[in-house]
Amino acid sequence: MEIGQALPVEKVKQSRLPQVDFNNIPFGKIYSDHMLVAEFKNGQWDGGKIIPFGDLPLSPATSTIHYGQSIFEGLKAYKSETEDKVLLFRPDENFKRFNESATRLCMPHVPEEVFMDGLFQLVNLDREWVPNTPGCSLYIRPFMFAADAYLGLKPSDSYKFLIITSPVGDYYAEPVRVKIERHYTRAAKGGTGYAKCAGNYAASIYPAKLAQEKGYHQLLWTDGAKHEFIEEAGSMNVMFVIGDKLITAPAGDSILHGITRKTVLTLAKEWGMEVEERPVEVKEVLEAVKNGTLKEAFGTGTAATIAHIIAIGDDGTDYELPAIETREFSNKVLKELTGIQRGNKEDAHNWIFKI
Ligand code: COI
Repeated sequence: MEIGQALPVEKVKQSRLPQVDFNNIPFGKIYSDHMLVAEFKNGQWDGGKIIPFGDLPLSPATSTIHYGQSIFEGLKAYKSETEDKVLLFRPDENFKRFNESATRLCMPHVPEEVFMDGLFQLVNLDREWVPNTPGCSLYIRPFMFAADAYLGLKPSDSYKFLIITSPVGDYYAEPVRVKIERHYTRAAKGGTGYAKCAGNYAASIYPAKLAQEKGYHQLLWTDGAKHEFIEEAGSMNVMFVIGDKLITAPAGDSILHGITRKTVLTLAKEWGMEVEERPVEVKEVLEAVKNGTLKEAFGTGTAATIAHIIAIGDDGTDYELPAIETREFSNKVLKELTGIQRGNKEDAHNWIFKI
């Protein structure tokens, strides 16, 4: 991969790398030495720069704090197992989705040379921060927020775009227990559900906390109209193997258009599996659990990768799902995906960008 146009760089005086225990990496708490910052003002972006990771000076009136005009992405970089390279998984898809989110949130698009070239340069500079430990990676978080100090409600005139990176381990340390949400709504038709905007996540925190107090890891969000159809799990898209079919909700306007989701569907189709992207009724899933035709349930996401769902709770009843070792498809797809991401399986689709 060509690193592209060079952004100005101010390097740290002393790296924090020696302080990191790479055998014990939590999710999202450790940050690499540098970050990228670009600013949008007077109708245009500056070219961006790479500086030491640190706090941002912000006015208390900063518009994003009050009205939530804020979007982000999540992608991962891996140490190759076969050569001295860092491998990025489908960053072009993140770039595309980021600007789709920007349109929905009435924000300016970030130019490719800032997002992509900046990303490659930042990851290259902090390449020693990409963990070598199995199951670990460098999580990359590009984000943009409205930067005007103004209390009126309108699209901001100024924005900041940043990329920070964080060595991470598992997002879910164990198979997840999910609860079907029948009351609260994550996203409605015509809303922002498909965009990766902060507000979608903010709205999910309280209902998810109620579920966590009852011993679940996450919610299974249902449609906002009748709560009869399964949509997604908030931190991931969800899929079911019922009989021999892989079934998942269509990526409409209330569901995040997951890149891992798209990847898994592509692989499943290539492997000759019957794939159905269609509304998934709660009733149908519970019926399949009861009559034994539901073989697998799992979430897909950048942070979560493939997260097995081990139990589904609904209306006070917990439905335990088949043992993880019996799950042919999700175990196979997890192996294939991590193999491609770590460079030891053929990348037939050119999903990997090498640095
Ligand atoms: C991701 O999977 O990258 C996300 O953005 C989900 C977030 C809750 C960690």
